[in-house]
Amino acid sequence: MTQETFPVFLVTKTDEHQFTTKVVEQSFDALPPGDVLIQVHYSSLNYKDALSATGHPGVTKKFPHVPGVDAAGKVVRSAVPQFQADHSVIVTGFDLGMNTWGGFGEYIQVPADWVMPLPRGLTLRESMILGTAGLTAALCIQAIRENGISPSSGEFLVTGATGGVGSLAVSILAKLGYSVVAATGKSAYRDFLKSLGASAIVTREEIQDRSDKPLLKGRWAGVVDTVGGNTLATAIKSTQYGGCVTACGLVGGANLTTTVYPFILRGVRLIGIDSVQCPMQKRLSLWSKLAAEWKPAQLDNLASTVDLFQLPEQINKILKGGNVGRVLIALQPVAR
Ligand SMILES: NC(=O)c1ccc[n+]([C@@H]2O[C@H](COP(=O)([O-])OP(=O)(O)OC[C@H]3O[C@@H](n4cnc5c(N)ncnc54)[C@H](OP(=O)(O)O)[C@@H]3O)[C@@H](O)[C@H]2O)c1
Repeated sequence: MTQETFPVFLVTKTDEHQFTTKVVEQSFDALPPGDVLIQVHYSSLNYKDALSATGHPGVTKKFPHVPGVDAAGKVVRSAVPQFQADHSVIVTGFDLGMNTWGGFGEYIQVPADWVMPLPRGLTLRESMILGTAGLTAALCIQAIRENGISPSSGEFLVTGATGGVGSLAVSILAKLGYSVVAATGKSAYRDFLKSLGASAIVTREEIQDRSDKPLLKGRWAGVVDTVGGNTLATAIKSTQYGGCVTACGLVGGANLTTTVYPFILRGVRLIGIDSVQCPMQKRLSLWSKLAAEWKPAQLDNLASTVDLFQLPEQINKILKGGNVGRVLIALQPVAR
């Protein structure tokens, strides 16, 4: 390889314990040890990346750091036979972008067991429009289906619906024939949510209950909750008999105040979702669905594409709850 340095979006901790970001050139020696060297074509921005880029210690403890929990690209060099130079691959989760330098740089070097081949039916670009958000939405939907919730079971609630996980969950559920009620704080994006297949839109406020009632009218057959806090608590007590709630996010708060009544009187099931340590077999199975029968019809409409220099503005936006759809990061000039 003739190239000696490559660009990364570097987060640095200052002596005053502040965090600054800058696009800088790094040498290959700066990469962590790993079996597979990958030239990243695309990454994507997830809420967690914004936390990492602003020094959240629950995500990243070691600085300087390159965030990016998602990366898709081509193998440059591999120490294992299952991946060969020029193979198209994706890496999402595990420690990527947390304390291992991630996809906000033109190259990553990772253990082989984090790497999976690009599923047939997806381009590298499409795989990162999905990214961790797509895998997370798929895990929620799979859990709900495994618990017997079908389109005929009743209405389905998706919270944080214009966000990354939310917009993909709305799209996939609608494609699978579910009647999806999308909850959003962005009144200007009702048409966007309808275009993804939402059958009805409610405001964030409409799905907040601040009474002490342990149960509300049982409306939802299933819930994909990306918000947490009182939104999740309200969703649990608004879920119908035998319904299923998946909890994957905390943009609205990490605390959950509830009673046991929804669980013991209605048999409501609350399922925690984790995409980070999701076992490889399960990933492969869900990604093959995302590449085929679960692939959102308008995947491209969900993405806006930026480069590394445009990331600070997007990070600020996602932290303020202003993100809509998916932010794709193009690392190769030809891909922009
Ligand atoms: N468990 C896992 O493996 C996993 C994987 C991926 C993501 N996550 C988590 O899932 C959540 C969503 O991630 P994301 O990448 O999709 O983020 P995102 O794109 O920022 O989406 C979050 C959406 O939530 C809504 N929202 C934001 N702040 C809110 C608030 N204070 N109260 C209520 N709603 C609010 C907004 O949508 P509206 O304006 O439409 O309401 C926002 O667009 C995050 O907490 C993230 O950490 C977890």
